[in-house]
Amino acid sequence: MEIIHFSAECYPVAKVGGLGDVVGALPKYQNKLGHVAKVVMPAYNTKFLHQNEFEVVYDGWVRLGAANYQVRIFREKTNKLGFDLFLVHIADLLDRDKVYGYDDDTERFLAFQIAALDWIAQWEHQPNVIHCHDHHTGLIPFMLGNCHNYRHLNHIPTILTIHNAQYQGQFGWDKLHYLPSFDLRNTSKLDWDNSINPLASAIKCAWRITTVSPSYLEEISHKANGLENLFAQERGKSVGILNGIDNEVWNPQKDPMLTKGFTIRTVENGKKANKEELCNVFNLDPTKPLYTFIGRLVGEKGADLLPEIFYNALQQSDGEINILVLGSGETDVEDRLNALTHQFPGKYNAYIGYNEALSHQIYAGADFLLMPSRVEPCGLNQMYALRYGTIPIVRRIGGLKDTVIDIGDGGFGICHDQTSIWDVGHAIGRAFDLFLDQKKVKEIRKFIMTLDHSWDRAAQQYIDVYQI
Ligand code: ADP
Ligand code: GLC
Repeated sequence: MEIIHFSAECYPVAKVGGLGDVVGALPKYQNKLGHVAKVVMPAYNTKFLHQNEFEVVYDGWVRLGAANYQVRIFREKTNKLGFDLFLVHIADLLDRDKVYGYDDDTERFLAFQIAALDWIAQWEHQPNVIHCHDHHTGLIPFMLGNCHNYRHLNHIPTILTIHNAQYQGQFGWDKLHYLPSFDLRNTSKLDWDNSINPLASAIKCAWRITTVSPSYLEEISHKANGLENLFAQERGKSVGILNGIDNEVWNPQKDPMLTKGFTIRTVENGKKANKEELCNVFNLDPTKPLYTFIGRLVGEKGADLLPEIFYNALQQSDGEINILVLGSGETDVEDRLNALTHQFPGKYNAYIGYNEALSHQIYAGADFLLMPSRVEPCGLNQMYALRYGTIPIVRRIGGLKDTVIDIGDGGFGICHDQTSIWDVGHAIGRAFDLFLDQKKVKEIRKFIMTLDHSWDRAAQQYIDVYQI
C-alpha cells in the first residue's frame, strides 16, 4: 500500500515537538511492514537541507489570491531516513529558519498544501492513502474532496491524525479566495464558529480520524478547545492509537548522544555515569535524586506552575534534591525558571532553549521526569524516560494515563490527579521517599526498560485503519 504522510514536522529534518518524532518514525515502521510510506513536508531553512543531497522532482507555481509563488519539490536522494522524503520549497514563504510562529503562517501552510496537491495531481499513478497530521495539513481532505483541480483524486481515502486539538489554525473568511475553486455550496465544510477552521474541516472531511492515545479520544469528546461537539458527532469514524517510539533512535545502548551507553544489565553504572556528567556540567550533586522537566514551557504542559513547585520543593527538601530543566516557551516562565538558578545554586539549574543531545543525556542521567500536563494527547517524553530507566511522575491525563501506572497500583511510576502546586509537590515527595528505597528503585529501573513502546504495534494499527 502506498501511503503519503503530509506534515509540518519530521525528525531529523525539522522538529519542534512530538509531531516531528512521530512523522520521523511511523513511515519507517510502515515500510518495514512492506508498505511504501512517504513524507511530504515544507522545505525550511534547516541544517538537514544544507547537509544532504536532493534531486528536483517538480517545478511549478502556486497561486494565493493575487500572489504567485515559485514551487520546487526536492526528493532526498539516499532514502537514509527509511522512507522517501519530499520537501516542498516555496521561495519567500517556507524557506525560513523556524517551523512556526510567523504572522503569515496561514498563507505558508495553505501554499504548502496546495503546491503538494498540485504535484500529486500530476502523478501517473495514485497513492492508496493520504495521511494528514494536525491542522497544518487539515485542508487537504476538503480540497481533495471538493476542489475542481483534484476531482480525479477524490476517491483516495484521507486520514487525519490529531496530535493536538488545542491548535486549530483558524483564519478569516477574507482568505477564502486563496483556496482553489470549488462548489461554494460546500463552504460549510470549512466552517467552525464563523471562521475557516482547518482542524474542524479535516474532522468533517477526512474518511477516518485518529488521536494519538485512546484516553485523549475520550477526553476530546468532552473538552477540545471548542471542537468537543464536533468530535462527539464524528466519534464513529475515530479511533485512538497510542504513539510508539523509535527504538533505533532512542536506544540507551547505542545512543551516540550519551556519555555512556547502557543496557538493562548495566543500567545502574550507565545511569550513574550519565548523571555524574550532567551534574558536573550543571553544577548539581550526583548523590542526590535528580528531578527533571523537558518540554515546551507552555500552560498545556503545566509549565507556568513549575517555578513555584520547584521553589517549594527545594525549600522543603533542605538541599536533599536536585532539579534540572530543559525547555523553551513563554518568556515569563523562562525568566522565572532562570531566576531560580541564582536562588538555589548547586541544587537547581535550567537550560532555556532547544537541545536535542541534552534531552537524550537527561533522559539517561535523571532519576525522575516530571510531566504535570494539563493536556497531553500522548506524550513521548515519558516513554523515552521509561526506556532510559528514568521513573516518570505524571498527571493522569491523555496518553500519560495510558502509559504510566502508579507504584501504589502495582506499577512503576508516580501519578497525580491534578495539575496543581499541591498535587505535583506531593508527587515529588512520594518520589523522594521512593528514592530512599534504592532496592525498589533498581527493580523499577530494570522493569521499565523492558516495557515495549516500539512503533511495530502502532504502525500495523494504522494500516488496519487505512483498510476502509
Ligand atoms: P509535545 O509534542 O507536546 O511537545 P511530546 O512529549 O510528544 O510533547 O514530545 C516532545 C518532544 O520534544 C520530545 O522528543 C522531547 O524530548 C522534545 N523536546 C521538547 N522540548 C525540548 C527541548 N527544549 N530540547 C530538546 N528536546 C525537546
Ligand atoms: C502533540 C502532543 C503530544 C504528542 C505529540 C505527538 O504535540 O502535545 O502529547 O505526544 O503531539 O503525537
